[in-house]
Parts: sequence; C-alpha cells; structure tokens
Amino acid sequence: MSETEHLQADTAGLNRAAELLRTGKLVAFPTETVYGLGADATRDICVARIYDAKRRPRFNPLIIHVPDVATAREIASFDEAADRLAGAFWPGALTLVLPLLSSSRIAPLAVAGQKTVAVRVPDHPLARELLARADRPIAAPSANPSGRVSPTTAEHVLEGLGGRIAAVLDGGACPVGVESTIVATGPTPRLLRPGGLPSDVLQACLGAPLEAADGAVTAPGQQRSHYAPDAAIRLDATEAREGERLLGFGDMECDVNLSRSGDMVEAAATLFRALHDLDSAGGRIAVAPIPDEGLGQAINDRLRRAAAPRK
Ligand code: TXA
Ligand code: MG
Repeated sequence: MSETEHLQADTAGLNRAAELLRTGKLVAFPTETVYGLGADATRDICVARIYDAKRRPRFNPLIIHVPDVATAREIASFDEAADRLAGAFWPGALTLVLPLLSSSRIAPLAVAGQKTVAVRVPDHPLARELLARADRPIAAPSANPSGRVSPTTAEHVLEGLGGRIAAVLDGGACPVGVESTIVATGPTPRLLRPGGLPSDVLQACLGAPLEAADGAVTAPGQQRSHYAPDAAIRLDATEAREGERLLGFGDMECDVNLSRSGDMVEAAATLFRALHDLDSAGGRIAVAPIPDEGLGQAINDRLRRAAAPRK
C-alpha cells in the first residue's frame, strides 16, 4: 500500500475520508473514546482488510458504528433495556451487544459469524459527520496493530498503521481516551467490558445491577455464541471422503474455494459465508490445509475452534 493520507478536519478531509470508505478502503477516524479503524461493514472483503492491517491473529467480532439510533435499529433488535440505555447514553461511549437482525446487510465477517452484533453511536462531531457522509454502517476496532495500546491521536495511528491504511482523519486527541463500555442486554444485562461510561451510571439508568462478565469474551457464554457449524469438520484434508464436502484453498478441485488465487484477504472474506453454505448443504466438511501466514493464522484459529470436539 502507498502512503497513508493525513486528512484534516475540514470539509475536504471529511469528503475524502467518506469517499475512501465508500470505495472499500480503510480509514482511521476519531471517536470520543479512541481512534477507530473503519471499513464498510456490509462487505466481507473490506472487513477482511481490517484484520489484515491490524495483523489480528483471531477474528474478533467488531463494533459497528452508525450515525444515529434509527440506523442502529435497522441492524439489531432492541429490547426494553437496550431502548433505555440507547435513549440515555447515545451518542456516547456505550456499545450494546444485541441480536443481529437477519434483514441487516452486515457482513458475516464483521460479526465473526455470530448472531449478535455490537453497535455504537459515537459522540464525536467528526465521527458522526463521517458516518453520515459514508452512508453505510462502519465496522471499526481500535486503530492499533493487534496487541498494542489503543490510539488517541492521529500520530499514534500513523506510528502503528502508517502505510497499511488509506487515510487517517485527524481530529486531535480523543476526549475520553479509553474504549467504550460494552453491555449485552437480554434477560440479565451483562457488562462485557468496562470502559468510558462508568457502570454505576448504567446501573442507575437500568434500576438494576449489571451482571459482571469477568473475562468477558472468553466467558463460556460468549464462546457458545460463536458460530460453529453443526457439521463435523476435518482439517488438513487433501481430498473429500465419502459424505464430505471439501473446502479448498488455492488452485484445486473442491466444493467451495476460499480463494482460488491463494489470496488471504479474499479467503478471510469468504470464510464465514463458506462455512455457513457448506453447513446448510448437510454432510461433513473437509478442509484443505491453509498456509499459516498473515490472515491464515486467524483463519486457522477459527477452523481449529470449529473443528474442536463439542458437547
Ligand atoms: O471505544 C470503542 O469501543 C472503540 C471505538 C473505535 O469505537 N472500538 C473498540 O473496538 O474498542 P475493539 O474491536 O478494539 O473492541 C471491540 C470489543 C472486542 O473485545 C470484541 O470482542 C467485542 O467488542 N465484541 C464485538 N462484538 C461482539 C459481540 N457480538 N459479542 C460480544 N463481544 C463483542
Ligand atoms: Mg482494541
């Protein structure tokens, strides 16, 4: 990739950032919490570029950013607690994990194949302007390489991701400086990640305690919600045995190919859809070896977990 554009917080900068997002590029932008690394959330290939740029070894589901509550309602289903929290704290440093509407156009990779989705309406004038101009939901994790601290200035973003993303929109320092608080609603609302919005403020709004989900995403309840195909999966297969369908990679004969040309970004973009399609076709799934390089690590991590014995 060529040099990362450093865009100023003016009309020209906003228009350029929105244009890049609409054409499938990665753009880092300021929110009130930290800088996000944004991509079109409706296209798997754009989302795959996020994981590639961050060198994420796993497909964690991403937060979907929208300009207002009405747009969030087109993506997720809101129960009473979600209505209340969104009404009180959006726009703001709160992310809600909610059931994903099947009518939403969110790419399977953005939610890592899950049936829930994390949504947020950020409270930063540039973020909101950008989301409105991009005119589509934007998936955005924090704009840092995997394992590094979250960036709160455009300079931090450029230090970590310069040359790997199309642009950064410079809004100066993020006022909150820590990530959003993540809450999953449902019968008992749970705190998945403490963050910029204190949990006692949330509890006061709900009029009930928030169940703490320590170790949040690794908690068993979270793992269960990860998409695992019903079909048994056999890894490192060189051919399909009787009753199996072959998920391939590269130039080979198979039922579904992650990427005929051996492109890892394309393979990542195809993964969840491919598993889903093979699963609904019935039978067992055999998977050809995937090189453990770049996004191949995240792909193999996902496949190993899908193939692991289940109860
Ligand atoms: O403040 C923030 O939240 C920033 C700005 C850019 O909005 N974003 C951010 O994203 O911190 P990220 O990807 O670094 O963290 C998102 C967290 C991850 O721990 C992920 O596992 C969790 O949200 N998450 C996303 N979708 C989820 C889901 N459906 N269920 C449970 N956890 C989810
Ligand atoms: Mg992060």
